[in-house]
Amino acid sequence: MATCSPFTSIFLCCFLLILSSSLGKTTSRPKALILQVTKDAKTLQYVTQVSQRTPLVPVKLTLDLGGPFMWVNCERGYTSSTYKPALCGAAPCRLLNTTSCTVCDPSVPDCLNTCGAGPDNPIANTGTHGEFGADVFTIQSTNGRNVLRVVTVPRLYFICGNNFVNDGLASGVTGIAGLGRTGASLPAQLSSYFRFNRIFALCLSSSTRSSGVVFFGNGPYTLLPNVDASSALTYTPLIVNPATESGFLGDASPKYFIEVKSIKINDKRVKLNETLLAVDSEGNPGTTTISTANPYTVLESSIYTAFVSAFVKAMPKNVERVPNVAPFGACFSSKNIGSTRLGPAVPTIDLVLQSKNVWSIFGANSMVEVSKDVLCLGFVEARTDFTPRFSIVIGGHQIEDNLLQFDLSASRLGFSSSLLGRSTTCANFNFTSTS
Ligand SMILES: *[C@@H]1O[C@H](CO)[C@@H](O)[C@H](O)[C@H]1NC(C)=O
Ligand SMILES: *[C@@H]1O[C@H](CO)[C@@H](O)[C@H](O)[C@H]1NC(C)=O
Ligand SMILES: *[C@@H]1O[C@H](CO)[C@@H](O)[C@H](O)[C@H]1NC(C)=O
Repeated sequence: MATCSPFTSIFLCCFLLILSSSLGKTTSRPKALILQVTKDAKTLQYVTQVSQRTPLVPVKLTLDLGGPFMWVNCERGYTSSTYKPALCGAAPCRLLNTTSCTVCDPSVPDCLNTCGAGPDNPIANTGTHGEFGADVFTIQSTNGRNVLRVVTVPRLYFICGNNFVNDGLASGVTGIAGLGRTGASLPAQLSSYFRFNRIFALCLSSSTRSSGVVFFGNGPYTLLPNVDASSALTYTPLIVNPATESGFLGDASPKYFIEVKSIKINDKRVKLNETLLAVDSEGNPGTTTISTANPYTVLESSIYTAFVSAFVKAMPKNVERVPNVAPFGACFSSKNIGSTRLGPAVPTIDLVLQSKNVWSIFGANSMVEVSKDVLCLGFVEARTDFTPRFSIVIGGHQIEDNLLQFDLSASRLGFSSSLLGRSTTCANFNFTSTS
């Protein structure tokens, strides 16, 4: 904003105003942003690439839908002339909702006391402590149909991780892109900087050879041939889980929770202890969450047992059950399983949500082809030695080729169900740039 004091001349003042308004036009804010996502064949992680630092370098990150922030391995060749650590007590530390402060050794040159948090690796289940800091970050904008120009966030805050917490991430990956429900996550910082609604959408490809996409901002989300995946979504409330499990004491979980009320297979209710799913009067959710860090949906043991036996029962009698292939608990010969537009012709799994809305899971999302003749039910049993325990963790295989829109401004999840039913996939965004 140009300010005019009595000492600046009228001419200079007018000139500045014209200049600033024309600058405002040429640098008009993007309405939506886009990241390309590939599935790593070896680890089944969903990997994206951002650009960061000065000079800019590409940085590969594993997506973590429920991750509280972006973290980058600062031990592996991080050099930048624009990196700025967040000093203790400074405003950016509030993004982490922390008062933690790392006091440095004053005898060390350039000693600065900084705030930080524990970068977490949801794959290897490791964590450490890292410094919070900001650097230049660039990302492509979109009109929802093509890729438009690259836009810059001068200071995007992230945590500096290290080699220890990098363990188990896909080849070439040096950090995590956290999309969670916090002020520091990537969607939160991008929507606040570019001033659009806090909405983002995930559309993961089932193929390791073609890319899926994350959109930040409102639709359209156009997939070839011409399907707007932001239309015809079904909605269910996103529930805040007050349980502490993120590593910041007192904080709500950064993960996204929905309420699954019951599970049906071929329209028949699976007999299970529905108390495990219910949202109670204290607001504690029955802990159904969604995770890109789990390749397959994880079910609490008693739910898993009931679910697998109901699925096996619902399978046509002429389909032969074959020995299990780890980590799955029910595998079938594919000989007598037909194929449909929605994948193998197997019983339909319905997650019944609030207001009787249903998330239907068809063959392409329920079955995993472990070999040419064997299909396994792509759900796994929860380990009991892990905390926190969730009743249902909806994993990657079950959300591929489905568009999921996380709308924090309306606190709801919009889901498309299988896009195969609309003759498209999440790999069908036209990444051709038009700028
Ligand atoms: C921030 O921390 C305080 C106290 O530790 C907690 O009450 C509050 O819910 C937290 N806010 C968020 C957004 O997690
Ligand atoms: C159902 O689960 C709840 C919560 O874990 C438990 O308290 C209850 O005993 C279970 N009921 C049965 C019949 O197993
Ligand atoms: C992708 O977008 C470009 C630029 O708008 C366009 O020329 C091209 O035809 C599109 N591709 C398809 C397959 O529609």
